[in-house]
Amino acid sequence: MDRLKGKVAIVTGAAKGLGAADARLFAAEGAAVILTDVDDATGAALAAELGAEYLHLDVTSEAAWAALIADVVARHGRLDVLVNNAGIVEFGDPETLTEGNYRKIMAVSLDGVVFGTKHAIPAMAANGGGSIVNMASIAAIQGEPTFAAYSAAKGAIDAYTRATAAHCIKHGRGVRCNSVLPAGIDTPMVQSLGGKLAELGAAAPAHDNASATNRLGEPVDVANLVLFLASDESRFINGQSHVIDDGASIISGNTVPRG
Ligand SMILES: NC(=O)c1ccc[n+]([C@@H]2O[C@H](COP(=O)([O-])OP(=O)(O)OC[C@H]3O[C@@H](n4cnc5c(N)ncnc54)[C@H](O)[C@@H]3O)[C@@H](O)[C@H]2O)c1
Repeated sequence: MDRLKGKVAIVTGAAKGLGAADARLFAAEGAAVILTDVDDATGAALAAELGAEYLHLDVTSEAAWAALIADVVARHGRLDVLVNNAGIVEFGDPETLTEGNYRKIMAVSLDGVVFGTKHAIPAMAANGGGSIVNMASIAAIQGEPTFAAYSAAKGAIDAYTRATAAHCIKHGRGVRCNSVLPAGIDTPMVQSLGGKLAELGAAAPAHDNASATNRLGEPVDVANLVLFLASDESRFINGQSHVIDDGASIISGNTVPRG
């Protein structure tokens, strides 16, 4: 019940899906959790249900990040955990992706992590340190033909995790940084993929590579790992990539997605 007791935690993209599951567990484990999103109605409703706080944050804006973290520290006195979860997915292979989609994906998925990390580190270090958890994807390490820009963003997030951890070790900041690489999890993002593909006239991708047991994971499956990485229980784990895919990526012949 108290695995995050006394900790102040920010979760981005917390209105729905994986971020919402993180926020639920964090609140249940005693954190003062600040849910942030651009979907204000949904985010505020969940925060009210959890007895938590909701703040609007478009992660693409560095100025918004600076203001939000300053506000949280001013009111709560500290920042212990940041979950850089917000992300979007758009289809596009390396030959057909559009500049607009590419830049949008990079802005939400990668810029958000970079700006959030930049402003969280000094806020956490001021109170002895903290934990940053970055939401990458199995797409960071597998060849994803139909989500090329998404893969690039997630690979960069995974690399940025190591850069951040190494920086914080070198400069004694006390901040750990780990990444999480899930395969297919049943969230609004994944539920929307079939419709987006249909618009493009493409066949829906098989989820048979998402899990060795041919099933999508549930958001809580990822949230349990995020909770562990956020808590002091993982204090000796730093700068690591954590694949969570029901074993799909270690099955011979199952490492290259079909579809
Ligand atoms: N669901 C999966 O199978 C899966 C697998 C691997 C990685 N991921 C990653 O996990 C994270 C969460 O995915 P999800 O499936 O819960 O997605 P989702 O679409 O269900 O939820 C994402 C949330 O992010 C918010 N968001 C979008 N743009 C934003 C912005 N500019 N600023 C702040 N918030 C914004 C949305 O409003 C939404 O509430 C993403 O980074 C995604 O890439 C998901």
